[in-house]
Amino acid sequence: MKIREKHGDLRWFEQARFGMFIHWGIYALPARGEWVKSHERMTNEKYAPYFKFFEPDLFNPKEWAAKAKAAGMKYVVFTAKHHDGFCLWDTALTDYNSVKAPRCRRDFLRDVVDAFRTEGLRIGLYYSLPDWRHPGYVVDARHPLRDNPEAAIEPRDYASYTQFLHAQVTELLTRYGPVDIIWFDGSYPETEEHWQSNELAKLIRSIQPNIIITRLPGHENLATPEQNIPPNGVRDSSGKLLPWEGCQVFSGTWGYCRYGQNWKSVGEIIEMLIRHVSRGGNLLLNVSPTARGCLDPKSSHRLYGLAKWMHYHQRSIYNCTIAPAEFTEPESCRYTYNPSEKRLYLHLFSWPDRRIFLQKLSNRIEYAQLLHDGSEIVMTENNPGNTHSAKISCDTVMLALPVSRPEVAVPVIELFLR
Ligand code: GLC
Repeated sequence: MKIREKHGDLRWFEQARFGMFIHWGIYALPARGEWVKSHERMTNEKYAPYFKFFEPDLFNPKEWAAKAKAAGMKYVVFTAKHHDGFCLWDTALTDYNSVKAPRCRRDFLRDVVDAFRTEGLRIGLYYSLPDWRHPGYVVDARHPLRDNPEAAIEPRDYASYTQFLHAQVTELLTRYGPVDIIWFDGSYPETEEHWQSNELAKLIRSIQPNIIITRLPGHENLATPEQNIPPNGVRDSSGKLLPWEGCQVFSGTWGYCRYGQNWKSVGEIIEMLIRHVSRGGNLLLNVSPTARGCLDPKSSHRLYGLAKWMHYHQRSIYNCTIAPAEFTEPESCRYTYNPSEKRLYLHLFSWPDRRIFLQKLSNRIEYAQLLHDGSEIVMTENNPGNTHSAKISCDTVMLALPVSRPEVAVPVIELFLR
């Protein structure tokens, strides 16, 4: 994949580091994840009740936006249309939308965009390239009707689909003010022809020149690894770090799942955020509102945990990136680095026994403190050592830590470099 980092305004994006992904649609009703139509090979008829009975009476995007902001998120990416083809805005191109849904009658996208903008967050729109509902879309290997012999032989006017796709994107980018990210998904096959992506990219740039584009073959402005953190960031063949954003879930699926297992704890999620930034990436963290339109208690609890931690530690996240390669991370620790401030942040995933040793940092640190309370951490450098205490090599700094671990989810030491 070639990353076109020259296009799209990536400056704000790389400073922001943390965003909220929202997967919400009529798949919240079956509550078995957003792929339910495909996994269970449902016909349109079988899937129809979810359109009819979608009634999000508790939909309150102001609350979502307030929670995202408190958690320290700087942008949102909202699913305007997922693979099932249901549109959450007032599109003129299909009646399969939330304004036409009998128990909705509302342009949800408008409300979401307004609410998040009011809180000062940037706006990203997720748009699925595949569409399992459009009659022109190919019955490919992931299509819900793939095992249906009639669907396989039925003629499909694929050109009508690309036209529809381009017209829908035009609606999204002309009706909702400045959009910062257009987050395409599902670009299989990864070819230009399949999506007419050159033409589409040209169209997008003519409407919103600075927008960031993801996953549109040939036009990606950043890499978007899914549920995995590249151990050394994402790099080109010469080793240069490229812009990237990892997307992650609280538990198994992106869309709401009643029996969701494998919830990550607050601590694990905070560590995940740090791991992304420590490798030069952003974290786009997903929430899955319910069919009634609210965040379930488990998600709210995790957002609250993030908010508590970010209140004291956001300095180690915003404007930060991977640390210079010469600073080897101590065991169970991650560095992030703010290059303009020359501050290095040491995140301790486990609490050592009173001391920690930092290699290659002797004579480089002017001052050290715990970030959450700004209390000094005493350093020892170039210690010749004595027989009863640790001997440290001359390029290493020893930090004296309090015996008790600070009562924050992940303690951070802020190091002011010379
Ligand atoms: C995966 C899922 C899709 C989800 C996306 C988010 O591709 O299959 O449903 O929207 O991840 O990145």
